[in-house]
Order: sequence, then structure tokens, then C-alpha cells
Amino acid sequence: MAGITDSAFREICRRYGADVVYSEMASVSALFFKPEKTLELVKFNASERPYVVQLFGKDPQHFAKATRILSRPLPCTQGRAGEGLRIDGLDINFGCPAKKVFGHGSGCALMPQKELAREIISAVCDNTDLPVSIKIRAGLRDMTALEFIENTKDLPYSAVMVHGRTYEGGFSGQVDFRIVEEIKKIIPDKIVLANGGINSAADGVRALHDYPTLDGLGIARGAWGQPWIFNSIKNTHLNDGACFVSTGEAYDFSHIKNIMLEHAKLIYADKGDTGKFEMRKHLAWYVKGFPGASELRRKLVMAESLEEIETILCA
Ligand SMILES: Cc1cc2nc3c(=O)[nH]c(=O)nc-3n(C[C@H](O)[C@H](O)[C@H](O)COP(=O)(O)O)c2cc1C
Repeated sequence: MAGITDSAFREICRRYGADVVYSEMASVSALFFKPEKTLELVKFNASERPYVVQLFGKDPQHFAKATRILSRPLPCTQGRAGEGLRIDGLDINFGCPAKKVFGHGSGCALMPQKELAREIISAVCDNTDLPVSIKIRAGLRDMTALEFIENTKDLPYSAVMVHGRTYEGGFSGQVDFRIVEEIKKIIPDKIVLANGGINSAADGVRALHDYPTLDGLGIARGAWGQPWIFNSIKNTHLNDGACFVSTGEAYDFSHIKNIMLEHAKLIYADKGDTGKFEMRKHLAWYVKGFPGASELRRKLVMAESLEEIETILCA
């Protein structure tokens, strides 16, 4: 997620059960013309792996060069082990509806462009030995995800993540995972993941139960303020298809405060003092539902240092 999934948040998600984490989307044109700033955006450390960098853009030549750059060892996040590591995969964004991306003909705007979409996937696959995946939406206007997959199924990408909302559905429309199962029938040898609307362990377990051919789930906003959602899904089971039974840890307030501090330490280690701006939104998400949440939130978002955050949380 752009603006959210920095190195610290990815690491926290991995520690609490995510199997694979993704970078914020990186512009292939920025990598083509002036790679330094974008390389800074996608830097990572060993404990995040498996780590996939997501690319967006519309020019196949830019995708080819960006792919070659990212297939080499990359700089690591400051202060932590892993200098010169390679990423574990590349993902291509065919799903973003944001004006800044869609308006330039990238992201979801590429879904109906049958030839160009194929050229872009080929440009990435032909220029790397890393696994390549794609992210698409359930559809855009009269181009459905099924048609998109029919059009690209012979290309050597290994996985697809389907956001089960159409372009028109934005970020709050109806999520359709039946289409994801239909996609799996077309490409049984590729990994097919479903994304959209998984905000709790129950949502995740229910989706995996109701759509048994899914290979996995992609979780975005459901990890905000609860990065343990990944573990919670793995530790929750459906009894007779009816009630949810959890065999894992309970994340009570004291446990959550420890995770907040763990997360804050990672952000400050990477970003120094500017980490406070990043941390504020996460702190506000974490305290939702806490007793005295609004007072705690008010204090936390005014904290100027890691020490202040620690003092507030330990009070
Ligand atoms: C703030 C924000 C940033 C996002 N950035 C990206 C991105 O960089 N790449 C991407 O594929 N999807 C991005 N998405 C979309 C999510 O990955 C996901 O497809 C969407 O939010 C639906 O999943 P959810 O219901 O679990 O949130 C973003 C979503 C949000 C809310």
C-alpha cells in the first residue's frame, strides 16, 4: 500500500504472520530516469523476506529497465542486517484506480489494453529470473478479470492477486470472490490470491472456507492497527462450518501496547525523527477500541520522540 507499507510495517506484518509482504508501488518511469529516490522507497531488510516489489507504469521499456535494476542486490534499510540482498519477486500493478496513476494510463487503466498489458508482463518476465506476479481488479467497464486472464494466461507469470472489486466499486463496493475461483479454473498452475474486505480473522477464515480453491488471501486495510490479523486467521478455525474457534494468542491491550512499541522502534530505527510522522497514523489505528482511546490517541499523536511514546504507553 502506497504511503503505508514501509519497511517497518512490513516487518511487523511478517513477525505477526504475513507469509509474503509487498512494497509500496514503485514507478517504473522514475526507476528508468532517476532510480535513486525510488530505490530508497523499496529498500528492505532480511527479516522482511519473502519481499516483493510492486511496479506501476505504462511503458514496456521502462518496465524492462526497472526490472533489470530491481533484479540486482538492493540497498538495505538503515541500521539493520541485510546489505545487498535480492528481493524475492516482482509484482505488476493492473489494479490501481487512483487518479494520479489511472489518469496517466497506468494501474487499472491497463486492464482493457490487451496488447499493451501482454507487452508489459513480457517485459518484466523476460528481464528477470525472479518470480513475477500481477495484481488486477474484478473488472473495469466491459473488461472482466476473466477476459484479462484469458488474454494473458500463456505468459510465464506465477501468481495473480485479484482485488474482488471492480474499478467502479472503488474501495468500498461489493467484493466478489467467485470470480477469483473462476480465474483459478483458467490458470490452475498459477497461484491465485483473493483480496478485498478481509478485516478480521472471521472474515479470512470464512473466505477460505467458502472459496476452497483460493491459494491464499491478500490483506490491505485489515492490517491497519492489527498486523496480527495474519496470525489470527491462521489460528482460527470454523467448527462444523458455523462457529469460530481460536487456538492462538489473544491480543489484549497490554500485548497490543508492546506491538505498538515494537513497531515504533522499527520506524525510528529506519527513519530517525521523521519516523514520528509515519508512526502517528499507525498509533491512531492501534488504539481503536482501547479504554480511553480518544485521550490516549490525543497524547500519542502529539508525541515527539520514541521515548515519549514509550512513556505514554507504559503509564
Ligand atoms: C492507502 C492505500 C494505498 C494502496 N496502495 C496500493 C498499492 O500501492 N498497490 C496495490 O496493489 N494496491 C494498493 N492499494 C489497494 C490495496 O492493496 C487493496 O487492493 C485494497 O485496499 C482492497 O483490499 P482491502 O479491502 O483489504 O483494503 C492501496 C489501498 C489503500 C487504501
